[in-house]
Amino acid sequence: MRLLPAAVAPAPFLLIVLFLLSCPRSAYSGEQKRFASIISFGDSYADTGNLVRWDNPVIESVNLIRNSPYGETFFGHPSGRATNGRIVLDFIADALDLPFVPPVLSRVENFSTGVNFAVAGATALNLTYLQGQNITVDLPINSSLNDQLRWFEQLKPSLCRSSSTHGGSSSGCFGESLFTLGQFGANDYRNILMNSNMTLEQARSYVPKIVNTIATGVERLIHHGAKYIVVADKIPFGCMPATLAMASSTNNNGGYDQYGCLKSFNTGLSQYHNALLRRRVDLLRRRYPHTRLVFAEQYRAVISFLQDPDHFGFNRSTTLMSCCGGGGPYNQNWKAPCGTPGATACAAPSEAIIWDGFHLTESAYSSIAHGWLHGPYADPPILQLLN
Ligand SMILES: *[C@@H]1O[C@H](CO)[C@@H](O)[C@H](O)[C@H]1NC(C)=O
Ligand SMILES: *[C@@H]1O[C@H](CO)[C@@H](O)[C@H](O)[C@H]1NC(C)=O
Ligand SMILES: *[C@@H]1O[C@H](CO)[C@@H](O)[C@H](O)[C@H]1NC(C)=O
Ligand SMILES: *[C@@H]1O[C@H](CO)[C@@H](O)[C@H](O)[C@H]1NC(C)=O
Ligand SMILES: *[C@@H]1O[C@H](CO)[C@@H](O)[C@H](O)[C@H]1NC(C)=O
Ligand SMILES: *[C@@H]1O[C@H](CO)[C@@H](O)[C@H](O)[C@H]1NC(C)=O
Repeated sequence: MRLLPAAVAPAPFLLIVLFLLSCPRSAYSGEQKRFASIISFGDSYADTGNLVRWDNPVIESVNLIRNSPYGETFFGHPSGRATNGRIVLDFIADALDLPFVPPVLSRVENFSTGVNFAVAGATALNLTYLQGQNITVDLPINSSLNDQLRWFEQLKPSLCRSSSTHGGSSSGCFGESLFTLGQFGANDYRNILMNSNMTLEQARSYVPKIVNTIATGVERLIHHGAKYIVVADKIPFGCMPATLAMASSTNNNGGYDQYGCLKSFNTGLSQYHNALLRRRVDLLRRRYPHTRLVFAEQYRAVISFLQDPDHFGFNRSTTLMSCCGGGGPYNQNWKAPCGTPGATACAAPSEAIIWDGFHLTESAYSSIAHGWLHGPYADPPILQLLN
């Protein structure tokens, strides 16, 4: 545990506080505990480079995030992240004074400050189960939530060894680690709806099983000693250009809300999933009162961007357009998606909410991260966890 000296006299203590407050990168102040590491699970919203390192020639060809213009805004080259720059996890690591969370498949031997098990395309339910349901999975690899948890369990002995170098043995080996889980489920729904020609009703029927898998995963982490766990909800599926473009070709889409999003997909799928997930998180809080669970919202954040784009610096005439795409309605051309030669990025990505058909821009992720760290999009805000 990296604590400041406990017995400092008032005057030096003030100096320390002033020093910390004047340090712009750090969100910590005063006499406060720190997180020693971040351990992350999820899909393309959290992957910092696992999918692009996955050794499989079949998926290599469909792995567009390894191409330009992914990464153009921040890293200056494709970084393995499914956006133009940093993702929410990067902004959280930065605010906690930790390095970007290294992908488990990178050659970093020492994950003492964190490790990322998230894989773009990852589903909540496992590949064998989904395929048994006649669902076409477009990244047919074993990277589901439980596959990621198994990786974590294999690595646990070495993670525990390196965390003891921080002297945190009293609180167990993950007492100072921030776990982040999710989102999970978006790719299950995407595979069901977009790759398997199934209906929204069919997708809905999987929601309880998906949420149960997530909640069981959270519980598994608690049994491994996780004390701080962030559980992310799902984006509004009906506001994504890929969903909008798919539905605009059929007349039976249930209508649009005041922002131009598909009502049925938002209420029938995302809100349903998020409400069940929140209920399960509440139950887990009651069952494990010594674990701090953060319910972190992407859904409400994206709706806020649409409600008041100017407030967040977004261009209100392009809110539901992919910044990177190959033309067509919503700039969502299935024949020329982002990462293929036929697609280009918009001139001002910082004013766009959506990067490609499914993923947000760095500026949107930055605003979501701010809302998770300070509120209002997290209950409780991450920076209040160590108070
Ligand atoms: C891991 O890296 C950290 C920081 O670079 C270092 O302090 C620590 O000793 C390393 N641990 C091992 C087991 O190599
Ligand atoms: C896959 O998921 C199904 C249904 O939840 C479960 O019964 C099965 O054991 C899982 N298989 C693997 C290999 O994890
Ligand atoms: C999957 O498709 C096969 C062949 O059409 C069918 O026999 C089977 O019942 C289907 N399984 C499910 C779970 O729908
Ligand atoms: C995924 O895991 C299952 C169960 O362990 C295995 O049967 C299957 O071959 C694996 N699939 C791939 C693509 O690795
Ligand atoms: C998808 O399903 C609809 C009705 O369930 C059917 O009319 C249509 O032909 C199917 N499309 C494909 C590509 O299978
Ligand atoms: C917003 O986007 C539209 C369409 O690309 C563009 O014409 C307009 O200049 C942009 N507005 C601002 C304030 O940048």
